[in-house]
Amino acid sequence: MPSNSSPEPGFAREHFALPRAPDGADAVYLAGNSLGAQPLAARRALLSAVDDQWARVGVAGWEESGWWTAPQRLGDRIAPLVGAAAGQVVVGDSTSVQLFGLLVAAARLRPERTVLLSDAGHFPTDRYLATSVARLTGLTLETGAPPAMAPD
Ligand SMILES: Cc1ncc(COP(=O)(O)O)c(C=O)c1O
Repeated sequence: MPSNSSPEPGFAREHFALPRAPDGADAVYLAGNSLGAQPLAARRALLSAVDDQWARVGVAGWEESGWWTAPQRLGDRIAPLVGAAAGQVVVGDSTSVQLFGLLVAAARLRPERTVLLSDAGHFPTDRYLATSVARLTGLTLETGAPPAMAPD
């Protein structure tokens, strides 16, 4: 019997648009990498941004609709989920765009460093990015084995 703090499985189904099985039946959708199930609230928020903000006020939306501060505002809402404090999480571009900016910034902050260390187990696009950043910043890319998993 579930405790009061454990919701029943499927308690949130009604909040998502869930792809169906090829035969049209309900399906269990477990993909969470890159594109998880669509939260219905995301659709509403996107439509609101397009129809109620962009269409109504145009470029003034950066101020009036709070677009400038959205990365910090959303980051503060996500922060407790990852154990961070307000002001420590920022929402931004795609993983690849963010990682590219982060690696270039890190390289430029420590110009005395000569090596960009990666591991062979990284996501393919992360490895391509590391190669490009190393070339761009004059670092030598070294790839090691992924760290061993800590025993349970
Ligand atoms: C570890 C990792 N790096 C990079 C990516 C690529 O993300 P994006 O397409 O947002 O750049 C993904 C996507 O799943 C990922 O899981």
